[in-house]
Amino acid sequence: MRRVRMQGWTRRLVAENRLSADDLIWPVFVQEGSGVSSDIAAMPGVQRHAIDRLVDAVGEAGDLGVPAIALFPYTDPARKDPDGTYATDPGNLMCRTVRALKKAHPEIGVICDVALDPYTSHGHDGLLRDGKIVNDATVEVLVRQALALADAGCDVIAPSDMMDGRVGAIRRALDDRGYTDVMIMAYAAKYASGFYGPFRDAIGSKGNLGGASKSTYQINPANGDEAIREVGLDLAEGADMVMVKPGLPYLDIVHRVKEAFHAPTFAYQVSGEFSMIRAAAERGWIDGERVMMESLLAFKRAGADGVLTYFAVEAAQKLKAG
Ligand code: PBG
Repeated sequence: MRRVRMQGWTRRLVAENRLSADDLIWPVFVQEGSGVSSDIAAMPGVQRHAIDRLVDAVGEAGDLGVPAIALFPYTDPARKDPDGTYATDPGNLMCRTVRALKKAHPEIGVICDVALDPYTSHGHDGLLRDGKIVNDATVEVLVRQALALADAGCDVIAPSDMMDGRVGAIRRALDDRGYTDVMIMAYAAKYASGFYGPFRDAIGSKGNLGGASKSTYQINPANGDEAIREVGLDLAEGADMVMVKPGLPYLDIVHRVKEAFHAPTFAYQVSGEFSMIRAAAERGWIDGERVMMESLLAFKRAGADGVLTYFAVEAAQKLKAG
């Protein structure tokens, strides 16, 4: 086995998988204001940007070959309420950002998260009634949120809420309004995970959840078959692309989803995964660049068509430098 590992040229020749900038989706955070950015304590090196700054940053990512970004808002706490009503406001921060991005960089894909957690005072992805997240009433709000984002010019709607039936409902509503070309990337296999911790700091929903968990809608980490059924339903309802989330701890699911459906399959290397690599690298315990590239390549080997990663720009820079 070692003969082909002996020299760089044979190693290159027999390499089975390759990472390219084309595989990367960059999740970004937008905040109010202009000319300002703010650090996210739990995600060193990641910032929230005001719209004008974000437009520039996204342009640079595009120049490095990153095909698309996934957009998340930091919502002013004064805009939050129990029902997340700001989510469906056509003038909200997300919609304004989408308009600015599509105007400045029409060639870069804009993927918009659909869920209520950036907007609800309790931090849940849906409507809370008598201590429960209600399904169908939430889906109605998500549909209106998706339509507002489509009106703003979003290319891909990415429902991350895990309500049942939302993909089909959003697809029908988009088609009815003439948005037959707007795609849906379903957070199909989204687990109830501790790895989302730093993200909640990024969007300002940290602490809002209190003791309540998202386990009544996100998948139990113990389960694999259930994720396959979820993905099957979302594809049947009209999802164009599906996602597994978190990433590395769920590579078995990425592999099974690709094998089962042969559909465009994405993995989300989430905030906690990013921050663990970053923190260990900052302490000098691991080689951060090397682990970044190794982790991204692992997604490709597992069968992912692409990866949502906070490392997208750094990885694209590294790939460009060779
Ligand atoms: C919520 C949403 C979450 C993430 C993306 N969309 C968090 C959650 O479900 O609590 C997490 C992303 C990350 O951790 O990087 N709709």
